[in-house]
Amino acid sequence: MKNLIAGNWKMNGTLESCLALARGVVEGIQADPQLLKKNEFLICPSYPYLVLVQAELTQAVALGAQDCAVKNNGAHTGDVSAEMLKNINCSYVILGHSERRADHREQDGYIAEKAAMAHRAGLNTIICVGETEEQREKGIQEEVVGEQLRDSLPTHVTAENTVIAYEPVWAIGTGKSATPDDIAAMHGFIRDQLEDENIRILYGGSMKPSNAADILTIENVNGGLIGGASLKAEDFLGIAKAAE
Ligand code: 13P
Repeated sequence: MKNLIAGNWKMNGTLESCLALARGVVEGIQADPQLLKKNEFLICPSYPYLVLVQAELTQAVALGAQDCAVKNNGAHTGDVSAEMLKNINCSYVILGHSERRADHREQDGYIAEKAAMAHRAGLNTIICVGETEEQREKGIQEEVVGEQLRDSLPTHVTAENTVIAYEPVWAIGTGKSATPDDIAAMHGFIRDQLEDENIRILYGGSMKPSNAADILTIENVNGGLIGGASLKAEDFLGIAKAAE
């Protein structure tokens, strides 16, 4: 199974900087096509930039969104449906990111409904799970992640339509990634909860070129969901290179 190296650009950039970043990623892969032997690449810009970023991409880089609506098209002001994302050639959508769980009070059942909607539209979902620092200190990280997996995954989850991202909340944007032992333990736990053994499990949280080799070589780590380091083409591709 190839690693999925996914960039979550979050709410960053201008149109100009996002187009330049997309071009940088495409050109970096063209300069080092070996990268495609073991990796697939995905970038997830903000909604307003999706269409124009898509025009910069080649087959080597897939496009994804960072969220979608729980409803289909219709009277839902401000929402963007999974069908719309599919229509502009997105192939993935990130759902249940901890920032959405926190900022928009998204809960497991709601995320599962969104995922079902996305699957119906033909999108792959990247469903995020992960414990807070407080939960880890209490030692209840497996209970927390186990519940998130049980309740935020829709029915009919397969390797063809779903990727899981384990993102410990305390490791996101802090510069402090989880230790290889903690990652190995949690990814093993997640693997045991999934029926389809080919579902990819990504790690996310302060991934960068300097820790990527240690992380991407852990059993049951099938790629990364990268925030800060995905905003520089060199660092984003450096993560894939480090694992070679
Ligand atoms: P950072 O890589 O900036 O820690 O963000 C991780 C993340 O939240 C990706 O979805």
